[in-house]
Formats: sequence, C-alpha cells, structure tokens
Amino acid sequence: MQDVDAIVQEALALFAGIADADELERAKARYLGKSGVLAELNKGLGRLPPAERPVTGSRFNAAKDRIETALAEQRERIQARKLEARLAEEALDVTLPGRGLGVGGLHPVTRTMQRIETLFRSLGFEVAHGPEIETDYYNFTALNQPENHPARSMHDTFYLAGGKHLLRTHTSPIQIHYMETHRPPVKLIAPGRVYRVDSDATHSPMFHQVEGLWIDERVTFANLKGVLIDFLRHFFEREDLEVRFRPSFFPFTEPSAEIDMSFGDAWLEIGGAGMVHPNVLRNVNVDSERYQGFAFGLGPDRLTMLRYGVNDLRLFFENDLRFLKQFN
Ligand code: FA5
Repeated sequence: MQDVDAIVQEALALFAGIADADELERAKARYLGKSGVLAELNKGLGRLPPAERPVTGSRFNAAKDRIETALAEQRERIQARKLEARLAEEALDVTLPGRGLGVGGLHPVTRTMQRIETLFRSLGFEVAHGPEIETDYYNFTALNQPENHPARSMHDTFYLAGGKHLLRTHTSPIQIHYMETHRPPVKLIAPGRVYRVDSDATHSPMFHQVEGLWIDERVTFANLKGVLIDFLRHFFEREDLEVRFRPSFFPFTEPSAEIDMSFGDAWLEIGGAGMVHPNVLRNVNVDSERYQGFAFGLGPDRLTMLRYGVNDLRLFFENDLRFLKQFN
C-alpha cells in the first residue's frame, strides 16, 4: 500500500491534463475500471494480515474518493469549457452595424415616363391606358390601315396563336378606345409598352411609346408644333433645342410628319405625328366636319437614351443592376 499516494498523484495529474471527455473516460477506466489500478490494489488488501486491514483499507478508500472527486471535477471543467466555446462561437455582437435593406430605385425609362406625364398634365392633357393585347381592328383597321399594308405582316407584328389577336405594335389603338367612350374635346396622352419583330441598337422587340391626341373644333398643325416643341424643350431643359418636322406618311394622319430633334451635329427621330385622318374620326362616330386635331407617338426609350447619353437601347432591358443603379 506504500504507493497509494503516488497512484493518486499520478491520476490527478493525468486527469488535469485531459481536455477531451472521451479521453477522460478512458483514463477513468485505467484507475477505477474492473481490472484497473485500484481493483488490483484491492485484491492485495485481502492478502494482508487482519490487523493491518482497517488502516490500509481506509487509506485505500480515501484514495478512491480523491480519484473519483478529481474525475468528477475534471468532467465538469471539460463541460464548462465546451459550453464557453459554444457561447463564444454563437455570440451575437449587438454593436455591429445593421445590414440594412436594399434600397430600390426607378428604372430610367420609368423616370422618363413620369416626367412626360408631369409635363403633359401641366399642359392640360389627361393620361389614358389601353390593353397590350389587341385585335386587328383596333391596331390597324380602325386606324385606316388597309388590309395589304406591310406593317400587318408577320415580319413586323407578333400575332398570338390563332391569329385573332396580336401584341399592339403602337399606342395608337388607345386613340380608338378612348374616343369610343369619350366625346370631343379630348386631350390625352397614353403611355405604354408596345411590341415589334425588331432588334438592334436603336430597336428593341418590346419598347415604349407615348401617344398624344388632341381633338377639338380648332386644333391645328400649329398647335401640334407648339405642344411638341414646348414639351421637348422642357423635357431636355434646353431652350435652344431644335425640333424638325419632316414630311412623312401614316395611314391615320394627314398630313403626317416624323419628329426629329437636334443631337450634336445630327438629327434623331423620336416620334411620328400628324393631323388625325377624317376616316379615323368617322370610325368612332365623331363628326369630322366639326372636329379636327392632331396625334403623335413618341419613343420614350429614345428620349431616355438622349437624356442620359446611352448609346444602346437594349441596355435598358437587360436588367443588369450595375447599369441601372447609375440612374438612381
Ligand atoms: C408609330 O408607331 C405611329 N403610331 C406614331 C404616330 C402616332 C404617328 C400618332 C402619327 C400619329 P413609328 O413606327 O415611326 O410610328 O414609331 C414611333 C416612334 O417609336 C419612333 O420614332 C421611335 O422613336 C420609336 N420606335 C419605333 N420602333 C422602335 C423600336 N423597335 N425600339 C424602340 N423605339 C422604337
């Protein structure tokens, strides 16, 4: 029994150096297990002379207690360390700045549309809307477009399966919808998406138009020029902006013009316009002897390109945030 103290010291030192719970259990087995060091000592006790047994026995029991206590303490220490490590790992640093919500912004073409609406409202124009899926009648026939007109071909127009409906190719059908439900005087703009089989740097298969229509008893081509020039100068905030009306043809206006604006040394087409054709007024039962007026169709995507100096229209519709964020 002389080495009992040595055994206890050895066990305590061993336990103290262990950081892993499983390893500690293995060390326990070495001392307290069935064939462990203490079990071996116990066997020796039985062989001692009876007179020595009480003293040696109580020394043995004290040693066993110390080892068991040390083991329990070390178990607790390992548990506590594990908990501490977990808490540190999962710690919530409440002093960190918040991540914040992403702030959205308006698409540059939406900004242009809103600007156009504001400016025309200030000139007394209403804002009207119409469907993007149209019938042949509203998109072409009612607008005086003959059956054999090339714009009706599949090369230019997206027809829906069945061939009865199509994606509107311009906002002009809104003229018809509006005049079917409102009598003159009418004074409106109608912004919206339109679709054509078209794609290059200045043509996109989906693009926007803003229709304008002013019908009253004495609305003239001079009013058309006045309204558009006034609008464009305000839109671009340039009093010296030059606007050109180039003779052209549309079945639904007579006379007709393309609207060009100065852009550096060049002219850029931004829309079509003209005096509403009497046949269009007749198609909506408006007395074309009494009423007359003008219509125009502007390309707000092109206006956005010019305003922000963007040279490829398709960039607006690729939805690349790196591009779009520059406008907010
Ligand atoms: C028209 O669509 C006529 N409805 C405009 C009109 C209305 C004339 C009322 C007279 C009276 P046009 O096809 O030229 O006309 O188109 C008008 C404008 O839309 C063009 O000047 C251009 O600015 C824009 N535009 C036309 N096609 C595209 C396209 N694929 N991508 C982007 N913009 C386009």
